[in-house]
Amino acid sequence: MCGIVGYVGSKDALPILLGGLEALEYRGYDSSGLALVRGGAVEVTRATGKLAELKKLFAQRAGDTKEPATQGIGHTRWATHGRPTETNAHPHSAGRVSLIHNGIIENYLELRASLEKQGCVFKSETDTEVAAHLLNTLLEKGLETREAFRQMCQAVRGSYAFLAIDQKTPGHIYVAKNSTPIILGRGEGESFIASDIPALLPHTRRIIVLEDGDLADVSADFIYLENRGTPIERREEQVTWDPITAQKGGFKHFMLKEIFDQAQVVGDTIRGRFSIETGAIMLPELAALETAAQRLRRVVLVACGTAWHACLEGKFFIENFAKIPCEVDYASEFRYRPQLFDADTLVIAVSQSGETLDTLGAIECAKGKALTLAVCNVVGASICRRADMVLYTHAGPEISVASTKAFSTQLIALELLGLFLAEKRGVMSADQRRSILEMMIHVPAAISAALKVEPQVIAAAKSFCTARDFLFLGRGTCYPIALEGALKLKEISYIHAEGYPAGEMKHGPIALIDERMPVVVILQRDKLLFEKTLSNLKEVEARGAKVLVITDAADDKTLGVVADSIIRVPYVSPELSPLLLNIPLQMLAYHVAVMNGTDVDLPRNLAKSVTVE
Ligand code: M6R
Repeated sequence: MCGIVGYVGSKDALPILLGGLEALEYRGYDSSGLALVRGGAVEVTRATGKLAELKKLFAQRAGDTKEPATQGIGHTRWATHGRPTETNAHPHSAGRVSLIHNGIIENYLELRASLEKQGCVFKSETDTEVAAHLLNTLLEKGLETREAFRQMCQAVRGSYAFLAIDQKTPGHIYVAKNSTPIILGRGEGESFIASDIPALLPHTRRIIVLEDGDLADVSADFIYLENRGTPIERREEQVTWDPITAQKGGFKHFMLKEIFDQAQVVGDTIRGRFSIETGAIMLPELAALETAAQRLRRVVLVACGTAWHACLEGKFFIENFAKIPCEVDYASEFRYRPQLFDADTLVIAVSQSGETLDTLGAIECAKGKALTLAVCNVVGASICRRADMVLYTHAGPEISVASTKAFSTQLIALELLGLFLAEKRGVMSADQRRSILEMMIHVPAAISAALKVEPQVIAAAKSFCTARDFLFLGRGTCYPIALEGALKLKEISYIHAEGYPAGEMKHGPIALIDERMPVVVILQRDKLLFEKTLSNLKEVEARGAKVLVITDAADDKTLGVVADSIIRVPYVSPELSPLLLNIPLQMLAYHVAVMNGTDVDLPRNLAKSVTVE
């Protein structure tokens, strides 16, 4: 997830673009850059770090130029391919072209190899630079700019919002969209482009939301639009949001926005990482594991908080798919225990931020003794720099302290890792992998469908929001989800909640149950687990508890008798049930917290990244 802005008109473009990037900084902040068109020349300025660093460069140059630039494009980056360095920052330039991109180009390695054969010299590690070179190569062949841009987009596979400038056609910004948001803004004799509404609000409320396959040629007075080659018109809309609401995508809190981001970011995390045709898992970043996978005798997953719950799910993937014994440990415990592992052990640290001190300490303990791998959301974070290998999740910046979308991307990344290890160890046939992958591609759509249960969750939250204690129960892969549901509720609503394996409840916690204790039961479709959890549910119901069932099982009469309310999410596959069943729990925590009037995005006593012991 990155932030993109563009301007073409008659005003000074610099403050408009910097202001736009500032409004989009929540989308990425590891580096930023601008390309300004001044007197037929394009000037590119880039800086690493927060936007303030880029602003400093322009402040130092203030007064150097007399003529303001009246056209430009800008970018604030959240790295996916390549470290957060100045060379990897956008815009990327090639000959006449300056280009910025938000998204992931899946076929960039093959495009890069072919462009290198044609003599292109690459400066960065990014996937984006291939688009700049490809566009320039097409222009050099004599194509008119719009046509060259169209052909470049056709050659690229993946997700993108592109903004490109051709030095030879000043006054035009070429825009394209596929699976990544981009919005055009209309003014009087000026046009704006941004990846999100907040960047446009100080200048215009007249917007056009581009759809997948759209290509636009934007100039000050005119916007040409086509979709997959056919000229089209798109309806202009009027935005009524205030700037703060706009930054949250119209949602009341970042947490809710991030819950609703999940279909997109889970799709981003799996895109380009496997082939349905061959069943191959394509994770070139894990090349060092290809040969080591055969000799692995043990895997240890370490993390904290929500990431630790993702590890508990990861254990199922690694043991069931790759057939390697796997343990899960709290990073804060692991680091102070004797390290009884050897070079045939893989230690995996899972972290959204990549800065959690305990997880960093754990990976440092393992370094040099075992193989180390980080599953992380922030490119170049400390944990990534210490580990031997990194598998990135593509959740984009997570602003809310309560982790939601990062968790879902960790689950899907760990599933890919389990399949990758299974493939390299030769313990799962291509057909078996293919059938799992065929289900995996439906997950983003299933998440979108699961998000539709919000009205039912609100109704359940209303009846439970005054409770002082909650119990969350689940079995098998639903047990980590029970833990996660309880953690989310505790964090943001300050209500005591416990997650328990459903079968363990009779060994103690059942004593707590009475009519004041809501019990949330996570019940998956799997026949054995369904029946066993149902028995536990009956034990709870018999003791007067209010029972909320979250399930992906088909309608079952018995369930209706024992549950006070039932919330159903779509079923995709046994492995992916937990990801979908977790969504109503995230929403339940959110709505209970809102009803109790807590500070949802910044809950008391908590920090987004815990860099102390
Ligand atoms: O950045 P990390 O994933 O390493 O953070 C780990 C925990 O601090 C984090 O998951 C914490 O539990 C969240 N607030 C959960 O919502």
